[in-house]
Amino acid sequence: MTTTAAADAEQRIQITPQELRKSEDTSRWYTEDITIPPEAQALLEQYSGFAPDEVVPHVRDLRERAFRTWPYPCIGHLRFLDLTASKHPSYPDVLARLKSGQTFLDAGCCLGQDFRKLIYDGAPSSAAMYGLDVEPGFFDLGHELFRDREKMQAKCVAADLTKSSVPSIEPMKSSIDVISAQSLFHLFTLKDQTTVAQHLAELTKPMAGSIIVGRQLGRMNAGEQRGLSEDTIVFLHNPDTFDRFWQDIGATTGSKWKVGTWVEEAPERVRKQAWASPGMMILVFTVTRQ
Ligand SMILES: C[S@@+](CC[C@H](N)C(=O)[O-])C[C@H]1O[C@@H](n2cnc3c(N)ncnc32)[C@H](O)[C@@H]1O
Repeated sequence: MTTTAAADAEQRIQITPQELRKSEDTSRWYTEDITIPPEAQALLEQYSGFAPDEVVPHVRDLRERAFRTWPYPCIGHLRFLDLTASKHPSYPDVLARLKSGQTFLDAGCCLGQDFRKLIYDGAPSSAAMYGLDVEPGFFDLGHELFRDREKMQAKCVAADLTKSSVPSIEPMKSSIDVISAQSLFHLFTLKDQTTVAQHLAELTKPMAGSIIVGRQLGRMNAGEQRGLSEDTIVFLHNPDTFDRFWQDIGATTGSKWKVGTWVEEAPERVRKQAWASPGMMILVFTVTRQ
């Protein structure tokens, strides 16, 4: 890639769903088989109140509509039913913090399965909980998926975190104890990741102990590569570059962060994708404000 092409690519913030459908065969990211993991079945029966045999047709309908909104592989492949945030090493700590009244923000929440799981596990459904996404259509679909429009107290905030100025998040600044950023950073160039992380850092309470937890695609030889389509560029971190990234975020936001990471093997479905590359893995992290 020439320097100018790389600079142009860097300008590209995100591809639209329409552009993505034109350039990629998104049906490859849409499984016909609807298998509901036991934890999601329990959530949909006991939190949402669906009868056992209602779950599959309901999920099929919602998944189809969510995929029409934005054809993310995690929607087409039903990964939102894996409830991966609840398998994060810091999940027991996150749950305990929320039970004690701490504030929580799910950045890039999509259908909001992760905060429903926290509520199901005992966290209060309250105004101390926020979902945030650039695509507000997901908020309604989340309410339908989990049939909780009347009882869900979490506030949903539409925001594009790659923009330097994001008025909708201003009222939340310096007020969040726990931020979850699941499968978010890996969507962006390093420049956009920096903007996103600066916003997240500024949303946290300015005191030792605020945390940002998450997971994302990573690569042992960290660097740029294609994203969902060939003409998008994303940056995949390894533990060292992710640590340096947060030291830089600290320097630009006047904060200090300790970065904990875990590396997991990339699942086979990831290794089969067009964007798979050697050394690809899942980078799990907890970043703690010092
Ligand atoms: C790959 S999905 C992951 C969803 C969810 N966190 C999960 O783990 O299932 C990425 C989510 O980030 C949202 N997103 C993408 N770009 C964003 C941006 N610039 N600002 C805020 N959210 C964004 C998408 O709309 C989508 O819901």
